[in-house]
Amino acid sequence: MSTTAPSQINDQPPRHVAIVMDGNGRWANQRHLPRVEGHRAGAKSVRMVVEESRRLGIRYLTLFAFSTENWQRPAEEVGALMGLFAQYLEHELTLMLKNDVRLRAIGDLARLPEAVRRSLCATMQKTERANGLDLILAISYGGREELTSACKSIASDVVQGKLNPDQITNQCIRDHLYAPDVPDPDLLIRTSDEYRISNFLLWQLAYSEIVVTPVLWPDFNKQEYMACLEAYNKRNRRFGLTSEQIEEARARACP
Ligand code: IPE
Ligand code: IPE
Ligand code: MG
Repeated sequence: MSTTAPSQINDQPPRHVAIVMDGNGRWANQRHLPRVEGHRAGAKSVRMVVEESRRLGIRYLTLFAFSTENWQRPAEEVGALMGLFAQYLEHELTLMLKNDVRLRAIGDLARLPEAVRRSLCATMQKTERANGLDLILAISYGGREELTSACKSIASDVVQGKLNPDQITNQCIRDHLYAPDVPDPDLLIRTSDEYRISNFLLWQLAYSEIVVTPVLWPDFNKQEYMACLEAYNKRNRRFGLTSEQIEEARARACP
């Protein structure tokens, strides 16, 4: 699947939105609350982006919920976050089914506590036939780890004689990622004014449009989400081509 075709022009809502949900700790600090209260408050923003994405016909939504590096946070915060994930999954199942949302997960799920893994698997199983929106939770996820795991699996195919090194193409690497069928994000949103990738979707973000907002994740509401989508609509995606080439492709697509 080519995700960088010049004919892909953004007068449509993005097909895939990815979000780094950042700023929960700062939100709590500003209110003199424990950090976990910021994580708890972030759940309503998750519900909003899921519902709005579904309503707008966005087909894939990837949410960065917990990174490989986040395992190094204080045990108390990690434990509280794990509890919130399990709670969220149980709580949102009905809404996911009602909204035709399929839950998926990317990351090193083996590191998750048993209870979270069980809730995750159960929710993924119960929603597997939904096809309105794929909600992809990046949990215990690291982009470098994803690429390392792809390299290992490709190397093992080569050693077993199933793959020739000449066959290691971009497509082959993509095929070994956690969710190979998911197209690259068109739009990456990061909240709380941080201008970095933080080990998210390193391969997949190659040509994504990036929108950073100062709003902290628990305050990210429908209006803010619409503003990010509007900013995306104004971007001119060129994929390495010239503006003239893009215009020609656009004219050919809609004569
Ligand atoms: C994002 O909020 C949630 C996770 C990383 C799990 P933070 O907890 O990083 O919030 P800040 O960046 O400290 O404000
Ligand atoms: C990125 O946020 C990870 C998630 C939102 C889950 P962080 O808060 O962990 O990122 P850094 O540490 O500011 O780069
Ligand atoms: Mg942060």
